[in-house]
Amino acid sequence: MNRQNGAERPYDVVLFGATGFVGALTARYLAAHAPDGCRWAVAGRSRAKLEELRAELAAEHPACADLPLLTADADDPVALRELAGSAHVVASTVGPYVRYGEGLVAACAEAGTDYADLTGEAEFVDRMYLEHDTRARETGARLVHACGFDSVPHDLGVYFTVRQLPEGVPLTVDGYVRTDAVFSGGTFASALTAMGRGPQMVRAARERRLHEPRLVGRRARAPQGSPHFSPETGTWGLPLPTLDPRVVERSARALERYGPDFRYRHFASVKRLPMALGGTAAVGLLAGAAQIPAARSWLSARVAPGTGPSEQRRRRSWFTVRFVGEGGGRRVYTEVSGGDPGYDETAKMLAEAALALAFDDLPATSGQVTTAVAAGDALLERLQAAGLRFRVAAVR
Ligand SMILES: NC(=O)c1ccc[n+]([C@@H]2O[C@H](COP(=O)([O-])OP(=O)(O)OC[C@H]3O[C@@H](n4cnc5c(N)ncnc54)[C@H](OP(=O)(O)O)[C@@H]3O)[C@@H](O)[C@H]2O)c1
Repeated sequence: MNRQNGAERPYDVVLFGATGFVGALTARYLAAHAPDGCRWAVAGRSRAKLEELRAELAAEHPACADLPLLTADADDPVALRELAGSAHVVASTVGPYVRYGEGLVAACAEAGTDYADLTGEAEFVDRMYLEHDTRARETGARLVHACGFDSVPHDLGVYFTVRQLPEGVPLTVDGYVRTDAVFSGGTFASALTAMGRGPQMVRAARERRLHEPRLVGRRARAPQGSPHFSPETGTWGLPLPTLDPRVVERSARALERYGPDFRYRHFASVKRLPMALGGTAAVGLLAGAAQIPAARSWLSARVAPGTGPSEQRRRRSWFTVRFVGEGGGRRVYTEVSGGDPGYDETAKMLAEAALALAFDDLPATSGQVTTAVAAGDALLERLQAAGLRFRVAAVR
């Protein structure tokens, strides 16, 4: 059993934000899949909502009738310290993270508690690196952001692709993402918040670059690609400036296996050009509107927090990420695919990441680490066993 954070604590895993949309799905996943003997608890700001959730879980899984409930508000540092001190791993679905997330990261870094979240907010990840990475390294805490669809299929998909390529040579990987899923109120609120904070995001990224140690003797990059038609995928590739390429770049910096000179480019994959142009225009309009506080509030009110796609809609949702990897005279085509990316699969990814941190024999790491660095092989194995597909489609 993997125990970086010392003496026994009351819980192996605590799920904070369990009463939200993806939080409740994650709680349901843990209720069904946590191993025998796993001591887990749900946490949130409302005791009444936690009791309601527990009753729902217990209706399907009678053992959950006694599931411990912990109350803490994201704005209460004392409660967060208690929460962090009570567990080996805390997984959080309380977002937007730039608004609610820092207190828990600080508490986990201080207590030497492993932390996992679902953020896709680049500014938050960079700020947490600047403020809490050093302390987490001292206490042994692993701070693992982006354990959902942002960025697990991309980070572990590239990790999987690199393993199919020769060692010790320059490598390039391009990723093409397709999905037909829809989003929840919480995701919409987080995306709008992030879009409305462009200057803060740029500042945090710049400060991080100045602070981060330089790579010596190796290169790892994730430059933005250009729009193009990809004969390999038969689709249009549009550069996708999400957190994912940054996460892949950090894994490549940390892991020698990515070779002496590694480059990753990240694209949305769209079948028809008009669709590609329409999608780009829609995101541009949304980003423009997010700069105006009144428009942001109006948009936020369109999709309520706590709500999201129905089970029926989620059952129809899917995603695929195709990778084209090249190096040392070899070219590989790989694919990661699964069901509803933003919620059902995200809940699975977060829960499995938390269980890996709590129970698996992982490489010794600490501080802010990516999923590939913290738990690459173990998490890959867990997710495959849980139904996510990672496959080599062709080798040339
Ligand atoms: N990476 C990905 O692919 C991915 C996928 C899905 C979601 N997400 C992210 O995950 C987050 C949650 O999404 P969601 O759809 O589940 O949102 P949601 O339904 O609005 O849930 C938000 C949760 O935060 C809790 N919360 C809000 N303010 C709090 C406070 N002051 N103290 C303690 N808890 C507080 C809410 O508690 P109450 O229930 O008491 O209101 C709720 O449990 C968002 O940031 C979203 O962007 C990421």
